Amino acid sequence: MSTSDYDVDPSPIHHFGDFYFAYNAMLAGIEIGLFDLLAGAPATAEQIEQRLGLHPRLTGDFLDSLVAMGFLERDGEQYTSTSLSDHYLRSGSPTTIVRYLKGAQSRWQRLPEALKTGEPLVRVPTPGATMDNLREGKDDWRLFFAWADYLAELRNRWLAGEFDWSGITDLVDFGGGNGSAAAYIARENPHIHATVFDLPNAKVPFDERMAELDMTDKVSFHAGDFFVDPLPEADAVLLGGMLIDWSEDQRADMLRAVYDALRPGGLVLSGSHLIDDDRREHLASMTASLNIALVSQHGRVPRIGEGMSWLQRGGFLDVRAQPLGEFETLLIGRKPQGSSR
Ligand SMILES: C[S@@+](CC[C@H](N)C(=O)[O-])C[C@H]1O[C@@H](n2cnc3c(N)ncnc32)[C@H](O)[C@@H]1O
Repeated sequence: MSTSDYDVDPSPIHHFGDFYFAYNAMLAGIEIGLFDLLAGAPATAEQIEQRLGLHPRLTGDFLDSLVAMGFLERDGEQYTSTSLSDHYLRSGSPTTIVRYLKGAQSRWQRLPEALKTGEPLVRVPTPGATMDNLREGKDDWRLFFAWADYLAELRNRWLAGEFDWSGITDLVDFGGGNGSAAAYIARENPHIHATVFDLPNAKVPFDERMAELDMTDKVSFHAGDFFVDPLPEADAVLLGGMLIDWSEDQRADMLRAVYDALRPGGLVLSGSHLIDDDRREHLASMTASLNIALVSQHGRVPRIGEGMSWLQRGGFLDVRAQPLGEFETLLIGRKPQGSSR
């Protein structure tokens, strides 16, 4: 069947193209220091041009595009940053994700090269190496958790507000980092006693985050290495973004630790990107998988069915998957009633 020119709808190209332009305007704002300049210091377009050395020809459309995207506010002639840009896009913010956005920008520009060589574009870490760097103090925990919080924010809100937590009293957030997920869940569901299980280095960022969220003493921190130390006993164990970027053996060990910690009938909950089994729909998960492939040799986002099989192989029953917010999938499995801890 031939398609006449009249039948070809270019809207998808416009749609993605518009986002591409807008995203690049945001990155340019980071690059020239716009969000640093305007944090708490309103300025007119002319003052911005002078301070950042910009030519006036493009400034108006550039600044107002950022207003339309929610990264700047305009009051009369004055522009200021918004809480969104100040939180995430100012380089000196404690919750900045600038370093990660710049890294992703330079990698994605080299996608054609990676497609041809099949090689990652950065030094290839072994599975779990990111964590080894953190454990050994080679990376900045606060910046890492700012990035993890940015990635997990929608998931954490959804879990806190939409998941049915009735019947769960003791929740362990496995690799719960600075405690954002546990705190959101415990705040919305006060009957839950939530414990973050993470490496000892995560305790300082955890304490800081709990103070920020006014949840100090409402979520516990249990320091340990889940490959070595037992988890506290629980009715549910949450794994937020935890099952990707590990070898098969490591993943099996992690799920064994979860299984052992659960009371009979307890739930394992794994929330992360997963690709639909037919590989046609979950665009954000497929591009997330490509993104992982650009920085690691073996990391990738699996299909939903594969994720379910991990839980089944771990001994969990009634394994099911359901959408988690707009982009992710929640896997749920149950420890058999008859089994002991
Ligand atoms: C990718 S982050 C995920 C953090 C959080 N669950 C989220 O959704 O943002 C992985 C977490 O696992 C923790 N972790 C890695 N290896 C660990 C280990 N062997 N024992 C305990 N925690 C570990 C890290 O410290 C980090 O907080």
